[in-house]
Amino acid sequence: MITKPKGTYDVLPLESKEWQKLEEVIRKICKLYNYKEIRTPIFESSDVFHRDQNDTSDMVTKETYDFKDRSDRGITLRPEGTAGVARAFVENKLYVDNPVSKLFYMGPMFRYERPQKGRNRQFSQFGVEALGSDSAYIDAEVIALGASLIRALGLKDVTVKINSLGDEESRSKYKEVLVNYFSKYQDCLCEDCKNRLVKNPLRILDCKVDRNQEFFKAAPKINDYLNQESKDRFKKVLDSLDSMDLKYVIDDNLVRGLDYYCHTVFELEVNVPEFGAQNVIGAGGRYNKLISDLGGPQTPGVGMAFGMERLLLATNFAGKKLAKDDSIHAYFIALGEKAEKEALKIMNACRIGGLSCEMDYLNGSLKSQFKKADKNNARFTIIFGENELEEMKCNIKDNETDNQETISLLEVYNYILSKLNKASACNTCPIKN
Ligand code: HAM
Repeated sequence: MITKPKGTYDVLPLESKEWQKLEEVIRKICKLYNYKEIRTPIFESSDVFHRDQNDTSDMVTKETYDFKDRSDRGITLRPEGTAGVARAFVENKLYVDNPVSKLFYMGPMFRYERPQKGRNRQFSQFGVEALGSDSAYIDAEVIALGASLIRALGLKDVTVKINSLGDEESRSKYKEVLVNYFSKYQDCLCEDCKNRLVKNPLRILDCKVDRNQEFFKAAPKINDYLNQESKDRFKKVLDSLDSMDLKYVIDDNLVRGLDYYCHTVFELEVNVPEFGAQNVIGAGGRYNKLISDLGGPQTPGVGMAFGMERLLLATNFAGKKLAKDDSIHAYFIALGEKAEKEALKIMNACRIGGLSCEMDYLNGSLKSQFKKADKNNARFTIIFGENELEEMKCNIKDNETDNQETISLLEVYNYILSKLNKASACNTCPIKN
């Protein structure tokens, strides 16, 4: 038997409705905040993600799926959405028509990580990117959108952790201070951090290995090195969150694993001990140089992405079901060849009119077909054999009331409609025009 690759999973029919519901909630929220969908390729030229030789983020150094295509081009399966969206923004000159582009995306991402619960090699992200404004208010809007999603999913106990990495001036001053400080403890640092000390000292603060050591806890804090402009900006973000009554915790060790951030960075953590390190369900921040690094005009940006598997795990863990049980309008039990043919015809007419219908295609016994009507959660069961067909009649059972009647086969559609109390089965029926 051929099995799925490590770190991937199948979404089976029973789970796919939860995914569809999550996607539906996400789309509604994006509409409320006026973010428009963008769809970019799941693979990009490697340069989109591997822009900077000095980039030391794990994702860039060891977690991407990189390969050469048959024409020897460097290709990378996207490990995140931001860089691809930024590439598309630049390539399609989205800045020409709109000074601010508010975009969202959902789809698979790929990272070569050690798989565990909530951490996969193929996973899905929902993300938003607001490009073109440096306003602190749009940082707050992005966080508010994330909080609305959490609320809509019924998740409680989610903490917003936030920090500011300041502007370039503040960061370079702070980096200097950090290098001086951690150099004194060089021998106590893990191998990765020794490397970070040279290449990207900020990322030392992110280290899971060293973080419990005393010297680590006593390290200088970035907030003390922000220049006035960066401080004022951060305060504005926090004030806006306060004004929307959104709770947060300032975490001065929060630097985030991607190297493009400046100013606001944040993570949303759900308090589920079973999730371990995978309790960060969403994260993001401001990036003001990414667009110009990709060859576009100087354009500030801010965004956030959620791991959709983690959102679903957290909702399941909270005992919530997003999707209602699947049900259909009508199950047809047609006994005999001619009746089956007629059932197929009536079902198709009903479906075009917006009623969901099913029948048994296996010539099962009457008993087994009743069971299937039940399993399909059919509101109505329509039963007829060849005798009834001669008179164009059928029995129709309302499974909600147990009421049973004999009606004309020509009446089935209108009968169900009248019981559903709707003028037309589904005004939203996708195939009805
Ligand atoms: P990130 O923190 O790398 O940020 O990923 C965002 C979220 O994706 C994480 O918080 C987590 O929920 C989920 N995630 C990441 N890796 C995995 C994995 N291996 N398995 C399952 N879920 C995972 C970004 O990707 C940035 N692009 C976010 C952003 C958007 N910043 C600005 N705009």
